[in-house]
Amino acid sequence: MLLLSLAVHSLFLSTVSASRPPTDKQWAKLSKAVGGRLYTSLPLAASCFSKVNGQLSTPNATECALVQQGYTQPDSRFNDYSAHMMPQWETCQTTLQRCLLNSDNPSDSAAWEDHECWQGAIAPRYIDVRSANDVLQALKFVKETGIRFSIKASGHDYKGRSSFGSLSLWTKNLNSLSYAAAFEPEGGKRDETYSAVTIGAGVPTEDIYAFADQNNVTVLGGYASTIAGAGGWVQAGGHSILSPIYGLGVDRVLQFKLVTFDGVLRTANRYQNQKLFWALRGGGGSTFGVVLEATFLAEPRMSLRVASISFTPTANNTHDFLQILVNNSYKWGQEGWGGHMGPASLINVNPLLTLEQANASVHPAVEYALGQPGGKAVVEDIPSWQAFFTKYVPSAQASVGVQTILGSRLIPIHPFFTENTGKKALVNLMSKMISTYAVNPYIIQGTPFLYNYTEGSTSVTPAWRKSLWQIGFHENMVYNATLQTMYSQYEIVNNITAWMRELAPESGAYFVLSAYM
Ligand SMILES: Cc1cc2nc3c(=O)[nH]c(=O)nc-3n(C[C@H](O)[C@H](O)[C@H](O)COP(=O)(O)OP(=O)(O)OC[C@H]3O[C@@H](n4cnc5c(N)ncnc54)[C@H](O)[C@@H]3O)c2cc1C
Ligand SMILES: *[C@@H]1O[C@H](CO)[C@@H](O)[C@H](O)[C@H]1NC(C)=O
Ligand SMILES: *[C@@H]1O[C@H](CO)[C@@H](O)[C@H](O)[C@H]1NC(C)=O
Ligand SMILES: *[C@@H]1O[C@H](CO)[C@@H](O)[C@H](O)[C@H]1NC(C)=O
Ligand SMILES: *[C@@H]1O[C@H](CO)[C@@H](O)[C@H](O)[C@H]1NC(C)=O
Ligand SMILES: *[C@@H]1O[C@H](CO)[C@@H](O)[C@H](O)[C@H]1NC(C)=O
Ligand SMILES: *[C@@H]1O[C@H](CO)[C@@H](O)[C@H](O)[C@H]1NC(C)=O
Ligand SMILES: *[C@@H]1O[C@H](CO)[C@@H](O)[C@H](O)[C@H]1NC(C)=O
Ligand SMILES: *[C@@H]1O[C@H](CO)[C@@H](O)[C@H](O)[C@H]1NC(C)=O
Repeated sequence: MLLLSLAVHSLFLSTVSASRPPTDKQWAKLSKAVGGRLYTSLPLAASCFSKVNGQLSTPNATECALVQQGYTQPDSRFNDYSAHMMPQWETCQTTLQRCLLNSDNPSDSAAWEDHECWQGAIAPRYIDVRSANDVLQALKFVKETGIRFSIKASGHDYKGRSSFGSLSLWTKNLNSLSYAAAFEPEGGKRDETYSAVTIGAGVPTEDIYAFADQNNVTVLGGYASTIAGAGGWVQAGGHSILSPIYGLGVDRVLQFKLVTFDGVLRTANRYQNQKLFWALRGGGGSTFGVVLEATFLAEPRMSLRVASISFTPTANNTHDFLQILVNNSYKWGQEGWGGHMGPASLINVNPLLTLEQANASVHPAVEYALGQPGGKAVVEDIPSWQAFFTKYVPSAQASVGVQTILGSRLIPIHPFFTENTGKKALVNLMSKMISTYAVNPYIIQGTPFLYNYTEGSTSVTPAWRKSLWQIGFHENMVYNATLQTMYSQYEIVNNITAWMRELAPESGAYFVLSAYM
């Protein structure tokens, strides 16, 4: 209701007063209201170019070299307002107005010598948000001027929803972290307490994990260094490779503090603003308000059994490995495994089995891999999530700084893992992706498979509760791709998505990942 009226409100204003953007005086007033932390933005690589937004510009070689260095680094992108993890969200894809470096070789000078630099989809102004007051002032300004705004934390959104607009609220400096052994939800019962970590909306995964570890607890989060756990991750659903046992991010959040779009600071939990709390648990980032912080249930520190298996893929050895994954995943799910798997590799973790049990459980995959060229397998005991994360994830996480289009589907437990025909269809589909389009399936065993869900408590698609896998896949677009190439790459992603929809018509998708609509 709230959202609807706001959307109508800004639509109304944008048709009526589109010719009247905010005056300099209005901007100056906003700047003062937010402690001077209103900034203008230029594209990340602007310093490399001699023509920026249609104007001659003097390149800065020092600055340009720094941008090249960090171009495909999640930390560098996290720290720069203008950077998004998928740089097509810095561009206007239909007009090809962009300001990109060659992600295959960021020092390729053709990128800035043969092209001009354009603002693209990067909001030209942003507020470096540090407090609830900054958000309240920004929303007041939006109401007065009718401009469009967006919210950006880390810029991981696969659909670019943290980009665009005339003004952006950059929340990455909402970076508080605190631990409470006996956290009480506001307005809750006295004796109801939890071991919990409260996380500012801008804190990246790597800081969350390190902080939890310092406090001898485990907090769930994404499989990448710089996703904002209390930002888009939890609001979209939030899967972890520990989710099979401990649930999704939305299952673990105990309380949100946010400023709703009507400009009111609110607390949402099981005891107050319950409907809003439900909506925030899966309704998606930038939908109900600007979240300031979220409190998550923590688990004790746990040791993990890790299986890391890989080999060199050839034309004829991925089909059988995929068959092994399909044959074993249901059993692995029941045993508590979660992980990321592909046609020639897997990294899976398990907090429940002993090392011996874990070793026996993954034996079919180990044996197969070791029989292939470049075959490697490690099954080991690791003392904590933090130790696992730092050892395995930085080198395995999905790449950033590359224009990437994703497609995905949640793969239901029935019939694919219980019927022979279903298993065959699934293996064939994945092999067809590889043979038709040279696209690799990216399998995530991260659904809340064993988790005891409280029916109706979250707003994520119920397909999560009935699935074993999420299969994703992607196409990378080169920095200077033509419009025609981009269209056909989107079409490939749509075509594969259609195959997966046919295979599992009653299922759904993690809505952060899908092709264009
Ligand atoms: C390399 C990579 C790996 C990933 N791995 C995983 C994974 O393992 N598990 C998983 O579940 N997902 C994963 N994702 C998806 C990721 O969780 C989503 O893209 C998520 O929305 C990112 O949230 P963010 O706030 O970090 O990103 P942003 O792009 O900054 O924001 C995402 C959305 O949330 C909104 N938003 C951000 N902050 C706030 C706020 N404070 N209040 C209100 N709205 C806000 C934005 O406006 C936008 O709509 C991955 C994505 C990438 C690119
Ligand atoms: C060039 O960039 C560097 C690094 O950001 C900065 O220190 C320097 O002041 C810039 N030089 C000019 C002339 O703007
Ligand atoms: C779910 O509940 C059952 C019955 O209480 C319990 O045995 C099981 O361990 C629970 N599962 C998880 C993953 O907590
Ligand atoms: C950390 O937590 C583990 C698991 O709960 C416990 O066994 C251990 O004693 C704790 N260590 C410290 C230093 O608190
Ligand atoms: C698989 O390919 C390799 C070369 O990549 C070849 O040596 C081998 O004979 C092939 N095996 C089968 C079963 O086709
Ligand atoms: C997978 O399971 C099927 C049916 O249960 C069986 O026929 C096949 O040999 C198995 N394949 C592998 C590679 O384990
Ligand atoms: C794991 O299994 C392999 C056989 O696959 C065996 O050689 C090895 O000793 C086992 N290791 C452990 C720790 O059980
Ligand atoms: C894109 O850039 C690469 C390297 O900079 C160049 O070799 C290629 O010809 C360019 N492609 C197009 C379509 O301009
Ligand atoms: C997508 O599928 C359609 C229908 O099968 C086909 O005509 C088209 O060529 C495919 N597109 C690509 C890029 O492969």
